[in-house]
Amino acid sequence: MTPPFLVLGIETSCDETAASIVRLAADGRAEVLSNVVASQVADHAPYGGVVPEVAARAHVELVEPVARRALAEAGTTLADVSGIAATAGPGLVGAVMVGLSFAKGLALAAGKPLVAVNHLEGHAVSARLEADVPYPFLLLLVSGGHCQLLDVAGVGACRRLGSTIDDAAGEAFDKIAKSLGLPYPGGPALERLAEGGDPDRYPLPRALLGRAGCDFSFSGLKTAAARMAEGATSPDARRDLAAAVQAAIARQLAERAERAMATYAAAHAADDAAQHEPQHLRFVVAGGVAANRAVRARLEATAAAHGFSFAAPPLRYCTDNAAMIALAGAERLALGLTHDLAVAARPRWPLDEAAALANPTHIPGRKGAKA
Ligand code: KG4
Ligand code: ZN
Repeated sequence: MTPPFLVLGIETSCDETAASIVRLAADGRAEVLSNVVASQVADHAPYGGVVPEVAARAHVELVEPVARRALAEAGTTLADVSGIAATAGPGLVGAVMVGLSFAKGLALAAGKPLVAVNHLEGHAVSARLEADVPYPFLLLLVSGGHCQLLDVAGVGACRRLGSTIDDAAGEAFDKIAKSLGLPYPGGPALERLAEGGDPDRYPLPRALLGRAGCDFSFSGLKTAAARMAEGATSPDARRDLAAAVQAAIARQLAERAERAMATYAAAHAADDAAQHEPQHLRFVVAGGVAANRAVRARLEATAAAHGFSFAAPPLRYCTDNAAMIALAGAERLALGLTHDLAVAARPRWPLDEAAALANPTHIPGRKGAKA
């Protein structure tokens, strides 16, 4: 399908019910016409984390009114959209099924093509919403469930350079915030607590320091911080520990991204030689943790030091939203990449399936392969 056209995006993979209308222009740029997010934070807060059954039930109640509002706010109707994109995984499978089944129903009733979108591909394109961030780029995807570095060559063409061997960065933020007695979701609460704190008061372990490759590990940091949190009872101590944790997470992200930048630049230098022209090196950070200002600042400085330009989505597109799903769907629709109604919801769906299968060390943990 040739742009310009409109796509309706639906996102229900975790605890946000979201719908959005995105217009893909003839020049490939995206314009967000509406971006509706109904957060279930209040439903899950009493449990200190997301309860899958509660999330699925809430999506059932919210998805239709949220989609209706996205159409109304964009001043459009279902008849005027060219396709319907919905997250088909990875995520809480009961939650994913709600949005995907809803999208299938709409596609069938309105006679529109369906695009089943990988949630991670949504995060990967999120910096391209309302900004000019062309392919290719080096991506650090950091959210509650994922922490990986990817070489993104184009639509659906990702090669994984590294990922976490235990927790995701957002998960580390959330768990450490919990040991500091902060409410769920922990990341933003920890960032607020850290304001004005001394990041050097508490020495935290530096995982994988000097180790080859671009993998991450946060479990040692989490354990050390939990132990320190028991002794950090005064307001000053809590603030300093939060600042130390935030700095330690930012530092690890930057150190591992630095390695990926070296690998990426070397690989692309070979491409440049073949094409006789130097390519622009771009570094993009996306996902919920990209909302953290200390993390962003540290990564921006790292990118600059290595000759990469830096891009991060505006805060509203860092955490889960449907605009990124609509854009990923629109880019696929433009290439004719659609799905039939039999497409299934997937709890696990790595962006780089070849790398995930080849390297089973990335499939440990309570929940199995997260990415
Ligand atoms: O992308 P996202 O909304 O959902 C997933 O796909 O996982 O990311 C949510 C994660 C949570 O772990 C949350 O604590 C973290 O992103 N997060 C933050 C901040 N805002 C969200 N972490 C640190 N600082 C923040 N400001
Ligand atoms: Zn996400």
